[in-house]
Amino acid sequence: MALNRALIFLGPPGAGKGTQSKKIAQRCGVPHLSTGDMFREAVARDSALGRIARPIMERGGLVPDDLVMKMVEERLGRPDCSGGFVFDGFPRTLPQAEMLDKILEARGFRPQVIDFCVSPEELVRRISGRWMCSVDGEIYNIHEAPPKVAGICDRDGGKLVQRADDRPEAVKERLEVYERQTKPLTEYYRQRGVLSLVDAGAPVEEVSRALDKLVNC
Ligand code: AP5
Repeated sequence: MALNRALIFLGPPGAGKGTQSKKIAQRCGVPHLSTGDMFREAVARDSALGRIARPIMERGGLVPDDLVMKMVEERLGRPDCSGGFVFDGFPRTLPQAEMLDKILEARGFRPQVIDFCVSPEELVRRISGRWMCSVDGEIYNIHEAPPKVAGICDRDGGKLVQRADDRPEAVKERLEVYERQTKPLTEYYRQRGVLSLVDAGAPVEEVSRALDKLVNC
């Protein structure tokens, strides 16, 4: 199975992009490309990129476009991206979207963009309850999808941790940055006729069913 296109999940922090994009990528047999996960790995490795990204991420800002694009282009050059891919949290600015258009055109891929719509109150509730596995990145939520044993990942027994940028001050900044810099992308893609909306305020399984109808592998 393949997608033969770039699936792009847009939406504010906590909207459920990570939760749903992993499922779709698995269903379609294509890579799940989360720029947030890539930066968190760089921070954990304490690489040169990670040392630049860490303070920006911790205060809720965006990593500069040139660094993001370099990382994404390198990732798209790997063989597993030949049948399409799912972007989670990318692009996030108009320059990133414009540069991505050129990359996709050169590869003969078209974008399919899905905007996750959720109320601000629900976003804050979800982020405050989020815990992640420190080993495989599996996402849990103490309100909605708790692990079987508190603090431990069901899949690999890894320790569950909270993200450094899920502190209330950083969340406020991330939501503001989203409104200012990322929300304009919905209009950008609407004008190109490639945008669909999904009610991502619904329970996880309901959102998955809506996405399954929108995305044909
Ligand atoms: P990134 O990791 O992309 O974070 P984000 O976009 O802020 O999104 P989140 O991961 O917070 O939320 P999500 O929508 O994936 O929700 P999730 O599925 O986890 O980026 C982090 C940082 O990296 C950025 O702030 C920036 O600094 C940097 N960065 C990354 N990409 C960049 C780029 N392109 N340019 C520049 N900088 C970049 O779900 C949230 C919680 O809700 C979970 O607990 C989950 O279990 C729960 N949940 C999910 N769905 C539901 C549901 N339907 N009902 C109830 N609970 C649900």
